[in-house]
Order: sequence, then C-alpha cells, then structure tokens
Amino acid sequence: MKDSVMTSEAEKAETPPVGGDDRRSFIARFSGWWMGWGLVSGYGYFASMIVRFLYPSSQSENKNKSWQFVAEVNSFKQGDSLTFISPAGDKAVITRMGMKGSEADFIALSSVCPHLGCQVHWESSNNRYFCPCHGGAFDPKGKPTAGPPKAAGQSLPHFTLKVENELLYIKAGTRSLV
Ligand code: FES
Repeated sequence: MKDSVMTSEAEKAETPPVGGDDRRSFIARFSGWWMGWGLVSGYGYFASMIVRFLYPSSQSENKNKSWQFVAEVNSFKQGDSLTFISPAGDKAVITRMGMKGSEADFIALSSVCPHLGCQVHWESSNNRYFCPCHGGAFDPKGKPTAGPPKAAGQSLPHFTLKVENELLYIKAGTRSLV
C-alpha cells in the first residue's frame, strides 16, 4: 500500500501539470515569431538602405517646386559654375556658357551622379562635367561621355532657369510647411 502511494507521488512529480506543455510551446512559438519578425524587419531596413544608395532619389520628383534666387547674372563669368542646394535638398550645378544676359547663357544640371550618387562638378578646362568616384563624364548638356554613366546611358537631369531684372532663378524643390 505504501509502495503504491509512493509510486503515484513520484509519477505526479514527473508528470508536468496539465497545460504546461501548451504554455511552453506557445512561448516557444511566440519567441520564434518574434525573432523571425525582428530578422525580417532588420533585413528589410538594410535592403531599403542599399536600394536608396544604389538608386538615389531623382531629386524633387514628388516635391513642390518654386522659383528660387540663385545669384546676380553679372556675378558669373563665362565658364563659372556654382553648386545650388534647394531647401528640399535638390542639388544642381549651374554653369554660365554664354554672355547674352539671358537664361540661355546658363545650364543647370543635377550635380548628383546618376551612377551611384557622387557629386559631379564642372571642369571648364576640359569642357565637361566630371564625377571623381568612377571617372564618369558628361558633355556640357549633361549627356554621358565616359565611365559607368556612359555604359548605362544615364544623363544628368536638367533644371529650369529664368533671368529677371538681371537676377538668376532656378525652379527647384521647396519644403512644404503643411
Ligand atoms: Fe559617378 Fe560612379 S558615382 S561615376
């Protein structure tokens, strides 16, 4: 009699309480989902950063644009160039190509290389825009002439310019206040 009592108490001690398995398997499953979710969101964020690096946004495609003052026309000599950054982050390299005194004298191109997003600058002595990262080059109208942009047929996008009262303006992205 005593043996049978002891046996059933030992069995009780080894047998997990009813519901313990369910709780443990729920916790294990929940931990698995949580870890999986963490991995997916981590890799997703990493992938989005890579995509943004490889395909830099095409400037202010979806932003508001407005006319913005750049400089007095007479402050540029022929062949001079400057980099303009709009409040929305559009980057343009503006170069004076002629001396008539109108917007036709100027060209404004994106200074963001369409290959991997490095900064392009004007080289007056070589009559070209140059990207130092991988030797990309563009003619004075922004057409690719060398390096990866030429291989991929990637030109520099244009910005619109106007001259009013001898002041040069560019149409570029602004930040909306609402
Ligand atoms: Fe300009 Fe590669 S980033 S050539």
